[in-house]
Amino acid sequence: MTELRRDDKDQQLASARVDHADTRLTTDQGIPVEDTDNSLHAGTRGPSLLEDFHLREKVMRFDHERIPERVVHARGSGAYGYFQVYESLARYTTAEFLCDPSLHTPVFVRFSTVQGSRGSADTVRDVRGFATKFYTGQGNFDLVGNNMPVFFIQDGIKFPDVIHAVKPQPRNEIPQGASAHDSFWDFVSQQPETMHHVMWLMSDRAIPRSFRTMQGFGVHTFRLVNAQGGNTFVKFHWTPVLGTHSLVWNEAQKIAGVDPDFNRRDLWESIESGALPEYELGLQFIPEDREFDFDWDLLDPTKIIPEELVPVTPVGKLVLNRNPDNFFAETEQVAFCVGNVVPGIDFTDDPLLQARLFSYLDTQLTRLGGPNFAQLPVNRPLAPVHHHQQDGFGQHEIPMGEGNYHPNTLGGGCPVVPGGDGFRHFPERVDGHKIRRRSETFADHYSQATLFWNSMSDWERSHIIEAYRFELGKCDRMDVRKRLVDHLEQIDHQLAVAVAAGIGVDEPAPVGENHGRSSPALSLTARTGEGVL
Ligand code: HEM
Repeated sequence: MTELRRDDKDQQLASARVDHADTRLTTDQGIPVEDTDNSLHAGTRGPSLLEDFHLREKVMRFDHERIPERVVHARGSGAYGYFQVYESLARYTTAEFLCDPSLHTPVFVRFSTVQGSRGSADTVRDVRGFATKFYTGQGNFDLVGNNMPVFFIQDGIKFPDVIHAVKPQPRNEIPQGASAHDSFWDFVSQQPETMHHVMWLMSDRAIPRSFRTMQGFGVHTFRLVNAQGGNTFVKFHWTPVLGTHSLVWNEAQKIAGVDPDFNRRDLWESIESGALPEYELGLQFIPEDREFDFDWDLLDPTKIIPEELVPVTPVGKLVLNRNPDNFFAETEQVAFCVGNVVPGIDFTDDPLLQARLFSYLDTQLTRLGGPNFAQLPVNRPLAPVHHHQQDGFGQHEIPMGEGNYHPNTLGGGCPVVPGGDGFRHFPERVDGHKIRRRSETFADHYSQATLFWNSMSDWERSHIIEAYRFELGKCDRMDVRKRLVDHLEQIDHQLAVAVAAGIGVDEPAPVGENHGRSSPALSLTARTGEGVL
């Protein structure tokens, strides 16, 4: 196994750090500058001269300081730390960082909101990102999750639609707030598959008090693969050691005005003061032969697996212990990708996950200016990197030798070792016709929304009702409000009646017993409010 210490990433970053404090000012070319306050003119009142290379360079560099913000999750805050597994999971996986309890695998975590721009407020009603880059000895593994265990849509081909509906309107960039506008409600009220996630969004989970008190979920079903090629389905859960805590809506709105950096500041200050954020990693293991044991499809990302059916096994701990040195270089330039997996962890055919596999690399080509962003200090693996890729914008290495192809008998290329410890995709059997139709097993859109509703306490329910009234009540179109209430009626009659009464929609007629309503109140995850801060 590769030896990994918790400060290995820190050591690697040391070579990239440049300390400019109290050193003589120079140009980018290292030429000492004698005056940075006055440009070179023809006479004291005359025009500036083109030959003033310091003026040109200084202004040019300023002009190009901005890069595109992330198309989603633009606002984020990051921290370094380490992960340690409690006991070997070798019976499930060959991923070394999950098999050796002596390893401290360095990590970088970025928390984010989804909808707002880079400068937006922290405490808006929104989903939060919880993305973790594990710098393992076998290469980088990125667990790119959210603070809610389900997603709005079942197929990634709908992602541009849901995001366009959630983001400010293209004509006037209004509203910049959370989900309270016509396009969001218009979209979700026509896509019943969104109903479960929308319910989470209307709950207090959408206004976390702190990143330290926020859960995280891998959302999709992934696979673990062991040395014998055995496959276990798995769901990833992060649980904060401090417990899960939210703001209340009144607080969230006021804080957004008074201290828009509320969550960012809390993360920064807690690490600076030594109150280190900690999260336990829990896994739900689903043996291969139980794939079809559930009333829904394991590949459907709008569904959870209730803990009563498959318990969450605590397997390790994440500790965040160091703030980044430079926001742009590290938090802004970090590039997560669900496709970054290590041997022993693999994908499933979840159609949302499959689209994500394309999207992250693709967007980062633009966002980070070319294909060499894995060389950026925050992205650089601790595992050795050797390949035949060449050139492109932002090449910061000097690849040596002449052999950048395979197979190669002239020398200088990187040999491929067949078998051994290289990544091997799980040889899942696939057959069928090419078809643009969703599986029937993805058809139930209400029962888990009902499950969520049934598992809420009275005060949590009242917050959800108030949130629907507040947000849906901002939608100008009465037909859209009504359409949404009709969906709520499929989830729970009392909920639908209560929401309708607050937004001027007629009380819906009961639809009678539905599959959703008959779901038992299984607990979903640790309740908001548990634990001590
Ligand atoms: C960014 C989570 C679905 C495209 C992110 C980030 C997170 C995340 C946490 C922020 C990463 C960071 O901090 O840098 C999720 C989850 C999803 C989901 C949990 C569903 C379960 C999708 C889908 C697509 C997508 C379906 C596209 C088909 C993107 C893009 C970014 C992003 C383009 C910006 C990446 C960058 O510029 O670096 N997502 N996402 N996501 N996501 Fe997703």
